[in-house]
Parts: sequence; C-alpha cells; structure tokens
Amino acid sequence: MGMFKVRVAEVLEETSNIKSFRLKRADGAPFDPYPAGAHIDVVGPTAVVRQYSLCSPPYELDEYLVAVKLEADSRGGSQALHDVEVGQELEISAPRNLMDLAEDADRHVLVAAGIGVTPMISMAYHLQRAGQEFELHYFARSHTEAAFVDLLENRSGFSDRVVFHFGLSRDEQRAVLETAASSLTQESHVYTCGPEGFMDRVKSIAAEKVPEDNVHIEHFRAGEPTDTSADVPFEVELDDEVYEVPVGRSIVQVLEENGVEVDTTCQEGICGTCIMGVLKGEPDHRDQCMSSSEKKANDQIAACVSRAKSPRLVLELF
Ligand code: FES
Repeated sequence: MGMFKVRVAEVLEETSNIKSFRLKRADGAPFDPYPAGAHIDVVGPTAVVRQYSLCSPPYELDEYLVAVKLEADSRGGSQALHDVEVGQELEISAPRNLMDLAEDADRHVLVAAGIGVTPMISMAYHLQRAGQEFELHYFARSHTEAAFVDLLENRSGFSDRVVFHFGLSRDEQRAVLETAASSLTQESHVYTCGPEGFMDRVKSIAAEKVPEDNVHIEHFRAGEPTDTSADVPFEVELDDEVYEVPVGRSIVQVLEENGVEVDTTCQEGICGTCIMGVLKGEPDHRDQCMSSSEKKANDQIAACVSRAKSPRLVLELF
C-alpha cells in the first residue's frame, strides 16, 4: 500500500479529548480526489497505525482534516498523535472508502454519535454541493463534548441540515430516531457511525423503514469476538499454489508465512485493507467492513479474520 508524507499545518483542540489536525502534503502537491466518507491510515510517531475519517470537503484537495479522540486505553496511537505539533511530519495512506453514498437515494439521513460525526461531515459537504436531500443528526453527551459544533453551526454551509441532540437518555434517543425514520421511503439511505450499541439501535429502527442494504454502518472497532469453537482447517488456492489454513491461524498469516505479501492495517476486520477476491468457494465472513450485500455476493473476503464454509477457497489478490 502506498504511503506518503504529510506535514501538520494546524492542530486545534475541538473538545477536552478530541484534537483536529490539518494535514498538507510534504511535497506541496494537492491530494488526489477521494469519495466522501473515506478514511486514511495515519502512522503516528510511535509507528502505530490508526484509521481516521477525512472530514474536510472532499472537493478541496489542498489539505486533509482529521480528528483524533484520545482513547482512555490508548496503546500509543491516539496519545502519540495528541502530542504531535504543528510542523511535524506524519505518514498517511491514500484514502479508502467503506461507506459509499448511494447516488440514487431520494434522501440521505446521516446519524452520528460522538467522534462518529467525522465521516458524516465530508459526506454532508458532498451532498450539499450535489444538491441532494439530506439531514445530519449529531448525538453527543453535551455541547462542550461535541467536536466541530462551531464548524457545523457557522462555517459548513449546511447548518440548516444539522440537528444536534445533546444529553439524551436512551429512550429519548430512540424517540428522536423513530421520528427521523418516519419520513423515510424504500429509496432512502441511512448512514451511521458511533458506538456499536448506538449503531445497532439506528440500524434496527431504520431497517423497519428501508431495505437492510440501505443502512450503512462505519465501524471503528472490531465487533464482539466470534465463537471459534467449531472452526475447522480449510485450504486456500492462490496463483495455483495451495495452502492449508489451520484452526487459530488467519488466511493472511498463512499467506505471509509462505512469502505472499498481503496489505493489512487493522488485522481486526474493520479497515478493508486486506480484502481479496474470491473466485471459487464460500467464505465465512467475520469482518465488520463489508456490507451485507457484499457478503452475500461471496466474491470478496477480508482475509485477516474471515474463514471458509467450503473446504477450499480460490482467491486472487486485488
Ligand atoms: S486488515 Fe483491516 S480488514 Fe483486514
């Protein structure tokens, strides 16, 4: 995967535990165009790699804006980035997108909680510019704990599309979500990012109004651990070579042990970097990065976590 150097042009304290970083290419060139909602890998000063959504307007390519929440259990990733100062250089990947906007939707409802607002901001910029119907619901514990409030209220150009929901109880959240869902049609699309439980609630309420594939979820963390007690070995075939994947080893691990280089980042099934093509066989999908329709198609696999339901998978590298 290609990585390139960027220089930190500005650091802002958005809240007591969220900082935003404006990044410019170290060589002064503009960035390549990217789809709204995309994220990048950022290699921090401690060489830890983390994914962060781009929250700048996707049509302005002179800089990227990302926001980093200081995690209480930081193992060097978010803490090291919070210590980064203006002028320092970081390494980043090209943007990748796991939550495409449905261009044919009659309406887009963006639902974010906490730091999950970040991908929604670039999506809102895109939708506003494209003249599409949308609204952004932003849930946070309080005004002071919500990032980008000033931007969304005063400088985004789409403040009339943003509805803030501060300090709501679980029941109040549900009522708001049900009201927002009441006007959805079968052609509407819902996008959500936030804590897993929050996204589950959004998904279950939205799925009563729109087809399941019209609900799009952006995961930042791996899901619940999978029950692996019934796992069995299987084979993968790649470029006419056959490898056995034993219980307790991943496809990526087996391929790399055999000298096959596979791009990976999270190794937890959330970033989509390791996705490979499936030419034959049935995957046992265990990732959080592919949509349910992509999983049903069975022609791709997140090779860092997923396994096989058939005795052999024939794979190709993308
Ligand atoms: S490396 Fe991130 S999904 Fe596999």
